[in-house]
Amino acid sequence: MCGIVGILGSHEVAPTLVESLRRLEYRGYDSAGIATVNSGKLERRRAVGKLVNLSDLLVHEPLPGKAGIGHTRWATHGAPSTTNAHPHRAGPVAVVHNGIIENYRELREELATHGITPQTETDTETVALMTQHLMDQGASATDAAMACIDKLEGAFALVFLFDGEEDLLVAARKGSPLAIGHGDGEMFVGSDAIALAPMTDQITYLEEGDRAVINRQGATITNAKGQRVNRDQQTIQMDAARVDKGGFKHFMAKEIAEQPTVLSGALSAYLDKDGISLPDPGLDFDKVERLVMVACGTAFYACLTAKYWFEQLAGIPVEVDIASEFRYREPPITKGTVALFVSQSGETADTLAALRYCAEKADKIVSVVNVPTSSIARESDLALPIHAGVEIGVASTKAFTCQLNVLLMLALEAAKSRGRMDSAEQAEVLETLRAMPGIFNVALQRGDAIRKAARQIAEARDVLFLGRGLMYPLALEGALKLKEISYIHAEAYASGELKHGPIALIDKTVPVVVMAPRDSLFDKTVSNMQEVMARGGKVCLITDAAGADAAGADVWQTIILPDVPEVLSPLLYALPAQLLAYHAADAKGTDVDQPRNLAKSVTVE
Ligand code: F6R
Repeated sequence: MCGIVGILGSHEVAPTLVESLRRLEYRGYDSAGIATVNSGKLERRRAVGKLVNLSDLLVHEPLPGKAGIGHTRWATHGAPSTTNAHPHRAGPVAVVHNGIIENYRELREELATHGITPQTETDTETVALMTQHLMDQGASATDAAMACIDKLEGAFALVFLFDGEEDLLVAARKGSPLAIGHGDGEMFVGSDAIALAPMTDQITYLEEGDRAVINRQGATITNAKGQRVNRDQQTIQMDAARVDKGGFKHFMAKEIAEQPTVLSGALSAYLDKDGISLPDPGLDFDKVERLVMVACGTAFYACLTAKYWFEQLAGIPVEVDIASEFRYREPPITKGTVALFVSQSGETADTLAALRYCAEKADKIVSVVNVPTSSIARESDLALPIHAGVEIGVASTKAFTCQLNVLLMLALEAAKSRGRMDSAEQAEVLETLRAMPGIFNVALQRGDAIRKAARQIAEARDVLFLGRGLMYPLALEGALKLKEISYIHAEAYASGELKHGPIALIDKTVPVVVMAPRDSLFDKTVSNMQEVMARGGKVCLITDAAGADAAGADVWQTIILPDVPEVLSPLLYALPAQLLAYHAADAKGTDVDQPRNLAKSVTVE
């Protein structure tokens, strides 16, 4: 979480810093700040709340200077306040930080022995104070920053700016990503390449433990052992760095609407005329004895869906776990196990830690990621990009359907290579999968029914989601989407669990969203739905035409989707789940793209 940026420019940097922070705001939006050096003098401006508050402040109190750093915060240590906002400053040192300094209390004790007292509750201020202290003892700015970094434990990306130094930034990466951008007589550094995209498409990604001393001529990079290293300079796709709403009210609405196009691109990346084409060397599915899948949040629900596919289609035993639980449970990873990690950002701290736990133990580490340059992708034996494009809305939408797409391809390939599905059967599924972007379009055109149901749901305090089989993870995803952006309390249950407790919650004030295409489990779900309606519960049924006919007239709201084969239904049913949440949140007037307390990239545990 938190977005950081640094610029050594040839023009005034404050507007560019703010523009970069706007592109990083998805990483946190509790407070924001910038610092610049102008005529040798270090100064900063900070404001609590959204970035717009900082922009407003800069109108009244501009900050000149051609060298600067900036930060948008997701609070960890210390409440969101102007005092706790970054950049933190101690004398000649200003610093921006993403991550957590775990030993900051010990460092504070060390500083206290020198009579140095922090002014804020943050871990980051300790970094500025320690660097200042080392400079007071005679170290140069660069040496002091390096010596301070040596003392730090935890996960961090840091950028330092110094009073009197208009051509110097010091940056460090350990556990949190950092990209250096190369311009013409200008240099940049930021949490990701998207932040730097308007300035440059020439990017060098720092690796774990790297530090960089940056001036306008370039960057000198050393690795964790202090050895000078060269890191590749890459040209990033500027297309992938476009971040505008394209005429939609919210990024989330745009990202939901672009799923037909995005899925179409994602399909062509994995399909050729002969069928599924995975990168080489792929996976030897015959030898896979067990699949362990680990992720967080929405990506976890993509894994839960894929469990059904891998087990039913390919006959591979699958365990799925939440990364934050998996990493500390010390689960045995036996021979024949492939560990698969799913992450949109590729930087989620818990998922990355789980991957590292499996690194030496599993036969192979596979990841399904949206950011191919991310830490999770880079630390995998096989990284499969989902090709969803940049996702800005905090609530994941198109990344989920694209994760499902890649996981389904893997399961279909596994089924074929394990002799459980022949080429003709696979080709049949792929034919409908190829048609899925068009089917998505049809579903999106039915937005009115979804909006109508969402408006009603927006008035509820609690909502239940039910689903069976492949629809159970979708129900979980629907409930997560609704709660995170509309702040309506929502829970999901496997339909068969209803009678084991949750049915006690049913009354006319609790809408129950039932996700049930007319599949092999439909009749069982309908029985559960009848049990809800018999107790006065209001059912919003998401189904297909045959399901709507069979469900009868007593259903409160019905959302009818096109027919698709059962195996593909999770991709399609993701859309109404997303739209229900979106329209409910929009009706309530919440901050859809930046819901309270959340951040897009969760780089702390
Ligand atoms: C919910 C959502 C989160 C993420 C989770 C994992 O809409 O977006 O639950 O899915 O934080 O993030 P990634 O996929 O980046 O590892």
